[in-house]
Amino acid sequence: MTIAERIERARGLDRVAGAARDAVQGVLRTGAVKDALHGVWLGHALHPALAQFTLGSFVSASLLDAVGGRTRESSTLVAAGLAATLPTVASGWADYADGHEEQQRVGVVHAALNGAGVALYAGALLARSRGGRGRALTAAGGALVSLSAYLGGHMAFRQALGPNHAEAVPHTGPEDWQPLGPLAEVPDRRPVRRLAGDTPVVVVRTADAVAVLADRCPHASAPLHEGELGEQDGCATLTCPWHGSVFRTADGGVVHGPATAPVPRFETRAVDGVLEARVVTHPGVPAS
Ligand code: FES
Repeated sequence: MTIAERIERARGLDRVAGAARDAVQGVLRTGAVKDALHGVWLGHALHPALAQFTLGSFVSASLLDAVGGRTRESSTLVAAGLAATLPTVASGWADYADGHEEQQRVGVVHAALNGAGVALYAGALLARSRGGRGRALTAAGGALVSLSAYLGGHMAFRQALGPNHAEAVPHTGPEDWQPLGPLAEVPDRRPVRRLAGDTPVVVVRTADAVAVLADRCPHASAPLHEGELGEQDGCATLTCPWHGSVFRTADGGVVHGPATAPVPRFETRAVDGVLEARVVTHPGVPAS
């Protein structure tokens, strides 16, 4: 078992992980700031991009110090990393707050290592302001943030905190028309689950349209047919039952995170009173 696997199973972390989650959720409520930190505006998670800059700056400073580079350049890199720390940390905590228990156990250790690493880099700058060289501090900081990056990689690529959980649907969903049952049996303003071939979909009838989307939330795979219909800015919306992401029913677009990717959508038609659907393989491009 790897170190990361041991950490994700360590129930002893649950108290601190839960306290951290509650604190973040108390500060970051649904809204524009939370959406921005998740990366809704970017179309994918913001944290990895910020972390790459922050970590890259810190580790580059450590390497420069290790090979006897000039202190001035190293300090510039440390200062760049420190300047980027706040948005990096904020975006990470935003994602953390909507994670599941195993992700949050790894997340608190990830955060603790980063916190210690940042303190060491800040200490190096302080030592340099007093005439020291701070190289031992940047070396220790580099070790800690690198170990933390390993855990961050585990969270992103093994535990899938951040990726689009519905990415496969446009590639595996049916490209030919599939019957979903009588159109007259689709209830008004109540999402229902159907199968388009082997692919679960959610069917939504509103006042002026019937929409078919993948029944899988891009954030963490929740069944969207258990969500609630609503309306925002004159558009019908569907709210995810697990963490409250809001999507437009017409095109699956994200209105509010934590999801950052749209729900895959399906084309629809009615043939002899039967609703049919096929997946849109290239979202934004009408199927031929
Ligand atoms: S599964 Fe988290 S918002 Fe849908």
